[in-house]
Amino acid sequence: MAQLIVALDVPSAERAEALVDQLYDLDVIVKIGLEALCGYPQRILTYCEARDVRTFIDAKLHDIPRTVAAAMAQLVRPNVHLINVHALGGLEMMRAAVDAANERAAELGVEPPNVMAVTLLTSIAPEDLNELGFQGGPGENAIRLAALARDAGCAGVVCSAHEVRDLKHFFGDDFLTLTPGIRPTGSVHGDQKRVTTPAEAVAAGSDYVVVGRPIVEASDPLAAAKEILEQMSVRA
Ligand code: C5P
Repeated sequence: MAQLIVALDVPSAERAEALVDQLYDLDVIVKIGLEALCGYPQRILTYCEARDVRTFIDAKLHDIPRTVAAAMAQLVRPNVHLINVHALGGLEMMRAAVDAANERAAELGVEPPNVMAVTLLTSIAPEDLNELGFQGGPGENAIRLAALARDAGCAGVVCSAHEVRDLKHFFGDDFLTLTPGIRPTGSVHGDQKRVTTPAEAVAAGSDYVVVGRPIVEASDPLAAAKEILEQMSVRA
């Protein structure tokens, strides 16, 4: 069954902790992204660990293999369920990340996190790809990068919900898909260019549905999250 991940994209630890509290009873996974990691990393990670809230550390690691492995080892904790890297960092970098996650988890005696690889950001439109020198469209590039991630031992990929069916077809149901760029019907898209509704993402087979602004910017985040969980339980 698909799980909801709420992106805690807020500027202060106080607001992030308040969201964790507000959403606590829904047992969602919370996403600690760049804003939190640059602003208040230890505080929010410790808070989630103390409350036993499962986390996805959206660090999008992308550096030389040794540096990525060292960063990965710093991030592994008991309640960290997912950590990601950029597939564009290459096979060796992704392998180093997976090995470091497994080794550190064994040292700590905790479940190793699922290491996920970002194929292409969902804010990238086809014309942006050409500008960057890529050949082909987002779909075929995502598949190529996902094959590399699988060969490196990653548990799955971060991708657009539009790519989930093909990815499951090529790599099997056990290869996990985590999909941002989700917008409930009628909401604003912001900078996301390839959007899907929660129900469509679930119907496509997405394992983890990431939602940020439609929940954290809502006047009632709990009600907004409940509404999205409801939409996820209805077939598209
Ligand atoms: O507010 P919104 O629902 O667009 O938030 C989506 C979240 O997912 C953001 O934190 C963004 O950094 C993240 N993300 C993304 N596209 C990716 C990977 C992560 O939008 N490919």
